[in-house]
Amino acid sequence: MSRIVVGVDGSADAAAALAWTLEEARLRRSAVDAVHAWRLPLYAAAPEPWFVGMPELPHDLDAKVEAATEAHARDVLDAAVAAAEREAADAGIQVRKEVVRGNPAHVLLEAARDADLLVVGSRGHGGFAGLLLGSVSQQCVQHASCPVVVVRAPAGADGGAG
Ligand SMILES: Nc1ncnc2c1ncn2[C@@H]1O[C@H](COP(=O)(O)OP(=O)(O)O)[C@@H](O)[C@H]1O
Ligand SMILES: [Mg+2]
Repeated sequence: MSRIVVGVDGSADAAAALAWTLEEARLRRSAVDAVHAWRLPLYAAAPEPWFVGMPELPHDLDAKVEAATEAHARDVLDAAVAAAEREAADAGIQVRKEVVRGNPAHVLLEAARDADLLVVGSRGHGGFAGLLLGSVSQQCVQHASCPVVVVRAPAGADGGAG
């Protein structure tokens, strides 16, 4: 069965990418993998020396931050897919949700390794304002082994930093 991977980061362009993906999946009779990549916030990955030495820090702080960050990543993906899920089910489209820890571009490229299509928004959350293409979507276009579709949200939608 053919398979379409779509990158979801909670942004307006990613929502447009997901909507486009579901329509394409309906036409192709594809399964959809909605993938959200997460990473630890930088302050947790590279704490300042004074922060490390703080006596009242719990010993399991890292595990707690990881668990909370991953849980939030699940919420972001659930929320982004929720609106589309019933419509997809009605159309007989199987939507699988994947929350993966890692660099977003690497995660998407790996997820799409054997896929028929990779779909991303043109911009996401954050990044440098003014760019037409975010760094994740750019890396996907440059390195994917399958065709890539880049989707822009309709004008007026909250386009994140773009
Ligand atoms: N963490 C992520 N997980 C899954 N997909 C992502 C992630 N970050 C970005 N993407 C995908 O890449 C698209 C472009 O985002 P990105 O290149 O990060 O732009 P920006 O620099 O504006 O944040 C998003 O619309 C989404 O489809
Ligand atoms: Mg981004």
